[in-house]
Amino acid sequence: MKVGMIGWRGMVGSVLMQRMLEEDDFDKIEATFFSTSQAGQTGPSVNGATSTLLDAHDIDALSQMDTILTCQGGDYTKKIHPLLRANGWDGYWIDAASALRMAPESTIVLDPVNDQVIADALNAGKKDYIGGNCTVSLMMMALAGLFREDLVEWCSSMTYQAASGAGARAMRELISQMGVLNQSVADLLIKQDSSIIDIDSGINQAFRNNAFPVKECGAPLAGSLTPWIDSDLENGQSREEWKAEAETNKILERHGAATIPVDGLCVRVGAMRCHSQALTIKLRKDVPLAEVEQIIGSANQWTELVPNTKAASVEKLSPAFVSGSLQVPVGRLRKMNMGPEYLTAFTVGDQLLWGAAEPIRRMLRLLG
Ligand code: HSE
Repeated sequence: MKVGMIGWRGMVGSVLMQRMLEEDDFDKIEATFFSTSQAGQTGPSVNGATSTLLDAHDIDALSQMDTILTCQGGDYTKKIHPLLRANGWDGYWIDAASALRMAPESTIVLDPVNDQVIADALNAGKKDYIGGNCTVSLMMMALAGLFREDLVEWCSSMTYQAASGAGARAMRELISQMGVLNQSVADLLIKQDSSIIDIDSGINQAFRNNAFPVKECGAPLAGSLTPWIDSDLENGQSREEWKAEAETNKILERHGAATIPVDGLCVRVGAMRCHSQALTIKLRKDVPLAEVEQIIGSANQWTELVPNTKAASVEKLSPAFVSGSLQVPVGRLRKMNMGPEYLTAFTVGDQLLWGAAEPIRRMLRLLG
């Protein structure tokens, strides 16, 4: 299979490349690397070999590919995908960007959750396979077992989303913000007897200083948070919040009366690359907690049940612990005071792995 790789140098693309090398994916395909800006230069080294980068805007060159896998972003997708299809190209388009996600011809890929939906789409001859929103994919990985058993009547997700979701520059700015905060009170921190009120006052001054770096994040994230992610839909919801129900149901191919309501508030916090979510789940019936734990923990090899103890929760349910891992821990599981069908859970997942690169990497593998 000839695979054209686009956007392999960016943050998601780099994680994808790393995972593909780890899993020997390049042994199974004939990869051609394209670039939007560096055509003619030398491409990445794969299994000791390099090649010359082709132009990612060259429709004829792209049309030679059986499959195109892009992490280049939505603008590229919106420009190139229609041109390729208009040119008669009938290959598989695998994409990390959201641009085509909700298109009727597209399938959102998250095979541990919707392998049957993907298989049906392939059998139906569908050609566009799109990675889901990171928060949605991570929530669905966490609750894969409950969705599989059709036990979720509705779900509310309150998120704690990492800077990586806002891009590489936001991650850099987060660290810069931390540095500025530290420097602004460094002399007080050294003195053991300095007043915490003075330290806090110094931090507050730093937040309010016009020089405080907020160009990428829009506001302080270090030592603070931002309760709005993505655009304003002007119905009270942010676009990130809207995606929760829309994409969950598209991933599961549930429509009309079968739609599962999913809603909540999406919040950006000062984590690096792991999104966390506090979930409230209304079960369709009262299932004993031990059974719920068994269903969640046995869903797949990545979803990992964390005992609802302080020690296990503190150790394993944190972005710092999960960062760089394919495991999706789910813990804080218990029935809520509202009634026996009401379950609460907390989950953490790497936004660049199962949230972005891994589902599309696995889709490429599914194609053979
Ligand atoms: N929209 C997500 C976020 C990342 O801002 O965290 C991309 O899925």
